[in-house]
Amino acid sequence: MERTFCMLKPGILQRRIVGRIVSRIEHKGLKICAMKMMRIPRAQCERHYSEHKERPFFKSLVDYMTSGPVVAMVVEGQDAIRYLRQLCGATNPAEAAPGTIRGDFALVTQNNIIHASDGPESARREIELFFTADEILEYEDGNRSWLG
Ligand code: CMP
Repeated sequence: MERTFCMLKPGILQRRIVGRIVSRIEHKGLKICAMKMMRIPRAQCERHYSEHKERPFFKSLVDYMTSGPVVAMVVEGQDAIRYLRQLCGATNPAEAAPGTIRGDFALVTQNNIIHASDGPESARREIELFFTADEILEYEDGNRSWLG
């Protein structure tokens, strides 16, 4: 079992599509182990995106991400990192295939509506940045035998 970090960006809440996006993650068979709605403090957002801090879009990305509430999640499952990235589609919505979240709901890269960790190291770092250990719930997955 693998855990990954997922964040629904402010545009998802503004457009009232939280349920539709979460539904895609659940339908895939991934298990939500933590979820919270929050407004990200600017310093925390800058840490989260620290690898982009020299990029020209850094300030406007942080402005956007702190402009309204987000939904942060820990998602678990076999190959959860890879599957969640597949569900999201390419970072640039112009290259995201129809049927993916970005392909269906986003137009521009900065406001690409969802974030998903790109590997095990970033998943660990991002989960730790957003959640304490006691906010991540261990519970029996009654569907597991049906998911293969
Ligand atoms: P995300 O998956 O959250 O990871 C980094 C984010 O930076 C990315 O989604 C986009 O929101 C943003 N981003 C990446 N490249 C660009 C770009 N060229 N212009 C504007 N924003 C970008």
